[in-house]
Amino acid sequence: MSLILGIESSCDDTAAAVVRMGGSSEVLSNVVYGQNALHADFGGVVPEIAARAHAEKLDVAVAAALAEAQVALNECDAIAVTAGPGLIGGVMAGVMCAKGLSVASGIPLVGVNHLAGHALTPVLTDGLIFPYLMLLVSGGHCQFLIAHSPTKFTRLGGTIDDAPGEAFDKVARLLGLPQPGGPSVEACAKGGEARIPLPRPLMDRADCNMSFSGLKTAVLRARDHAMAAAGGLKRQDQADLCASFQASVVDVLVGKSKRAIDAYLAHAPERPALAVAGGVAANGPIRADLKALCAERGLKFTAPPLALCTDNAAMIAHAGGLLFAGGQRDGLDLAARPRWPLDQTQAPLIGSGKKGAKA
Ligand code: KG4
Ligand code: ZN
Repeated sequence: MSLILGIESSCDDTAAAVVRMGGSSEVLSNVVYGQNALHADFGGVVPEIAARAHAEKLDVAVAAALAEAQVALNECDAIAVTAGPGLIGGVMAGVMCAKGLSVASGIPLVGVNHLAGHALTPVLTDGLIFPYLMLLVSGGHCQFLIAHSPTKFTRLGGTIDDAPGEAFDKVARLLGLPQPGGPSVEACAKGGEARIPLPRPLMDRADCNMSFSGLKTAVLRARDHAMAAAGGLKRQDQADLCASFQASVVDVLVGKSKRAIDAYLAHAPERPALAVAGGVAANGPIRADLKALCAERGLKFTAPPLALCTDNAAMIAHAGGLLFAGGQRDGLDLAARPRWPLDQTQAPLIGSGKKGAKA
């Protein structure tokens, strides 16, 4: 058993956590300080503001995480920190904080890939065993991964432009619905009918890549058409547009999941499973259809609880704990990396969500 302090600051959440690693690992504390209020006026995360806020808040977050876990720093076996990918100023703030703590206490330092933190969370929450299939869908990321081990991932495909959460947010903006767009589009869609024909981008391609940018433009055109016909955006048209857009996203995610499952099952997993993570995994129809698909194909379906799905430091502590157990130790030369693909054997995607590095 070991105690790991985790630190995360790659986007707009300053987070620290303590996780006890063991037969079944346990999250002892999970402190997250968001920065929404700081960025609200700018319509997106401002990297410089984020970095400064992380630098101011990291020590507070670490102290709070240790206090809540009732663990002293010198009881920790390792300090795990997000070393990328992400907004470089924020990642540097976290890495510097972790290095300082490591030098002062003599506790080993372990650099963690933020995406590995997300991708390994189902091991912590559901005890999944390798290899399992992972669909990361959020405002910043969209990719299918096979997790073979804490350090080996195969990326089967991902978005070539926008991430689905980003598309939900933009569609909400187009239709005059509040942000974040996902929950408001989902709620509005409940009163609508998916009667408006919209594209299912890249569905005719045999790979696992996706595209959501054209879909969003198609919603814009359909909205303008409906508005011209009715002299304004009627409530029913708004709901029908939401329902039609959501149906298209569901079809794309489910259709591409079928292909990803085929590729994954070729690895003959002992206990086949699909895990979804990221904010978009909160969507009812997306979850329901992925769950049904998994039942049909004999896969276990899991989705970590939301607090461990969105950005947090417990996932970094947990991933760091697995790496630490595997012998990883980093020195003061640990670098902060803005880009750091999980699967280095694949060509980088053209776009992996434009909003930023947050997954
Ligand atoms: O993982 P997350 O909290 O962090 C970022 O990627 O920033 O994901 C947030 C994204 C937003 O784009 C939000 O609109 C989307 O997840 N989202 C949803 C739902 N709830 C949140 N998308 C679709 N349906 C939802 N119910
Ligand atoms: Zn993330």
